[in-house]
Amino acid sequence: MNFFICLAVLFMSFAQVLSFPTPPTRRNEFIAWAPHIQTPVKSATWYLNTVQNVTWDVSDIPEEKRFSNGTLVLARPKKYNEHLDLERPLAKDFPLSRGFVEFYLSNRTRGQGFAVCLLGDSGNLSELFTIA
Ligand SMILES: *[C@@H]1O[C@H](CO)[C@@H](O)[C@H](O)[C@H]1NC(C)=O
Ligand SMILES: *[C@@H]1O[C@H](CO)[C@@H](O)[C@H](O)[C@H]1NC(C)=O
Ligand SMILES: *[C@@H]1O[C@H](CO)[C@@H](O)[C@H](O)[C@H]1NC(C)=O
Ligand SMILES: *[C@@H]1O[C@H](CO)[C@@H](O)[C@H](O)[C@H]1NC(C)=O
Repeated sequence: MNFFICLAVLFMSFAQVLSFPTPPTRRNEFIAWAPHIQTPVKSATWYLNTVQNVTWDVSDIPEEKRFSNGTLVLARPKKYNEHLDLERPLAKDFPLSRGFVEFYLSNRTRGQGFAVCLLGDSGNLSELFTIA
């Protein structure tokens, strides 16, 4: 199992899986693109009750994803579990093609070893950072 790939496949409904192969418009949802998250960088610190900005590389965004929205979730990856906080996304409904999303960070656990996961497709975890 690849530790760095978020389990975005969880978002794929059984209906989607069972209806595969799909007509072109739906098949697009299966195109895997794991954007490279550029910030936060390793060992960054996010302070609670501040605005944070996550950025990712869009230079390799596939045509099919230009108009897709993403969801950003907090993770705290351990060896066998990424601990994605799917119930409380940090941000959602932002265009993947923009390459960044700003949001207000509040009401989270402080500590080390956090990462963010950009969903909307196959996700890629960021480097580990600290919430203080
Ligand atoms: C995920 O990001 C890392 C760097 O953070 C990169 O080396 C790796 O290729 C990316 N994975 C995919 C599938 O894009
Ligand atoms: C977030 O990053 C983007 C891209 O680098 C930048 O344009 C924007 O001003 C940044 N926002 C904040 C609040 O730093
Ligand atoms: C993407 O999010 C915007 C709001 O930011 C919303 O208006 C739009 O309908 C969403 N698009 C899709 C394809 O879900
Ligand atoms: C803070 O988050 C917890 C869940 O982790 C939730 O139960 C609580 O209502 C939240 N408080 C506020 C003020 O949003």
